[in-house]
Amino acid sequence: DEIEKGGYEHFMLKEIFEQPNSIADSMRGRLDAKNARLTLGGIREQADALAEANRIIIIACGTSWHSGLVAEYLFEEFCRIPVEVEYASEFRYRNPVINEGDVVIAISQSGETADTLAAIELAKSKGAIILGVVNVVGSSISRASHEGAYLHTGPEIGVASTKAFTGQLSVLTMIVLSVAQRKKTITESKFKELLQELESIPDKIKKVLDSNDKIEYISSLFKDAANFLYLGRGYNFPVALEGALKLKEISYIHAEGYPAAEMKHGPIALIDEEMPVVFIATRDSSYDKIVSNIQEVKARKGMVIAIVTEGDVLIPKMADHVIEVPRCDEALMPLISVIPLQLLSYHIAIMRGCNVDQPRNLAKSVTVE
Ligand code: G6P
Repeated sequence: DEIEKGGYEHFMLKEIFEQPNSIADSMRGRLDAKNARLTLGGIREQADALAEANRIIIIACGTSWHSGLVAEYLFEEFCRIPVEVEYASEFRYRNPVINEGDVVIAISQSGETADTLAAIELAKSKGAIILGVVNVVGSSISRASHEGAYLHTGPEIGVASTKAFTGQLSVLTMIVLSVAQRKKTITESKFKELLQELESIPDKIKKVLDSNDKIEYISSLFKDAANFLYLGRGYNFPVALEGALKLKEISYIHAEGYPAAEMKHGPIALIDEEMPVVFIATRDSSYDKIVSNIQEVKARKGMVIAIVTEGDVLIPKMADHVIEVPRCDEALMPLISVIPLQLLSYHIAIMRGCNVDQPRNLAKSVTVE
């Protein structure tokens, strides 16, 4: 056990720190930014079906469902294909409409989640093409899929998913970009630019990991909070959901993730000086809007922790604490902006004496309903 933890105190911390490497592993042999080439060996026969899909249905559970939400934004922006992201457990018990030409993408770290597997079988029986985005090679979901792409991020031991999430984002982004290139819904220059950005993600994550001590300090200030709110917009909205999920899974603090603009339809009623609000407020097309949301929280005396792009001078004047992340195209920002949230939940959980690698009541892979 100790050897496997490679000098880290917990698998979760090891896996968080592994991400520069695990993301590079997910791109190895696939992404060649210099020559503007992207090769996904696992999606060949169905590549046309995917590019010509009338609709994509993404099926997943838990953290994998969050990476599915990011993929929805990516597919719609770069491929102009309508996407639905479904909880496998809901999808399988509805009478879902599946039409010819629909493609299902099933996302699963373990490849063994019972609900996801059952949803795949249902979609398959109605004639859908199934592509798997899976970490565990040879798992049930990878076998049930027609084709797919493995994450290649190595085994994930900590129950709370970290490196599998970023591995999923990396692989899903590569799938999206290869479809966009095929469909010509992306310009050559944007395609090249995003490949270069993707290639630089591991180094940018290293920079975020350098803020670990600062994040540990911020964690010490909020470890006794009873509730947390996480807010983000656009590509950072699924990151808000994932940040809240990480915190509740391992620290047992009640946390909710919301699209920042939805705050006024409910969560704003909860805000007072006892309520820490984590904003994922990096420089992107909704920056001005999220700045207003931060002001709304401060006006109600909420405590604001903001994830910002390096060099931001405005938000540090409003927020109680800021954590900087490197600049990055907004479409790839979730790969970076989720890292400080993983560390925040880790440190808070440790300070509360929780078992981060095996949180109570949770299983790494949910193979029963
Ligand atoms: C469990 C795990 C989560 C995971 C979810 C889906 O709840 O604790 O970390 O996100 O299952 O698992 P999968 O293996 O299908 O991604």
